Amino acid sequence: MKESTKRAMSPRIATRSPSRSASLVVHAFDETAGLAKRLARALNARASLILEHRFPDRECLVRVAHRNDAEAIVVQSFNEPDGKLLPALLAADALHRAGARRVTLVAPYLAYMRQDRVFRPGESVSQTVFGECLGRWFDRVFTVEAHLHRIRRLSEATKCRGRSLSAAPVVAQWLARQAPDALVVGPDEESQTLVESIARVAGVRWAAGIKTRIDDRRVRIRFPDLPAGDRAVIVDDIASSGATIAAAAGALRARGVRTLDAVVVHAIFARGALELMRRAGVRRIVSCDTIPHPTNRISCAPLIAAALESSL
Ligand code: R5P
Repeated sequence: MKESTKRAMSPRIATRSPSRSASLVVHAFDETAGLAKRLARALNARASLILEHRFPDRECLVRVAHRNDAEAIVVQSFNEPDGKLLPALLAADALHRAGARRVTLVAPYLAYMRQDRVFRPGESVSQTVFGECLGRWFDRVFTVEAHLHRIRRLSEATKCRGRSLSAAPVVAQWLARQAPDALVVGPDEESQTLVESIARVAGVRWAAGIKTRIDDRRVRIRFPDLPAGDRAVIVDDIASSGATIAAAAGALRARGVRTLDAVVVHAIFARGALELMRRAGVRRIVSCDTIPHPTNRISCAPLIAAALESSL
């Protein structure tokens, strides 16, 4: 088949040969089983659940079902990361011992990326510690919208092959369907690349604010250059305390925006975050499925599957 015809038929996933698929297993923990199933379906691969056992002393044991030399993908998302890191590393070790020819981590949300330098004397660089730990046990790491602002590539943090995928195409699709006439707004300077790419794909206008962080749960945001309009969608990579989106919503409402929605890629949503954002006037809050949450409306599975498929 000619290359141009193949491209027109689009998903490269559809052209995957059954024999290669048979040698690929997507392994998931309980919490990531949903996304792993969607990924396995897209890759025409087998999905398998990792058994995670806690001993009375809270130590952890994992057991994987893996055939010799099949390629392994482990799906683990690192919201509330401390209790999830070790099981992921143990799974990688178990898969190598079971004979997997390559073990790839799909971590749709990668934690500890924001502490990417020593902000105050005496601190560690968590990004390096966490990233290198993963790179020591996994051959490759794939993630979505890693918070990389002082380094350009994920591999600089993990010291192994890997990619941080942009969520812009899937968020833009949602926007084009759900809010085609809205202004896309990034709350701060760091969100600018994401909102600009989304706006370009969706064909809508965009703006980004300037943020000053006061502490973990308080920020100040202003919008010096805001195009006129009474409908906006705030887009950010992460919502944790919800303070950033709430402050952006307050500033936008003060400038005359009446209808406000918010899209976040990683729905961390610490306690009280949703209420805070709603009180600030956000009508609809939706998220990508990188962290399982009732607000998940946008799936990143096609994005991740396409990236994996092109690198197998
Ligand atoms: C940081 O700059 C990120 O892009 C997010 O804006 C931030 O992590 C959101 O955190 P919070 O919801 O706690 O304001």
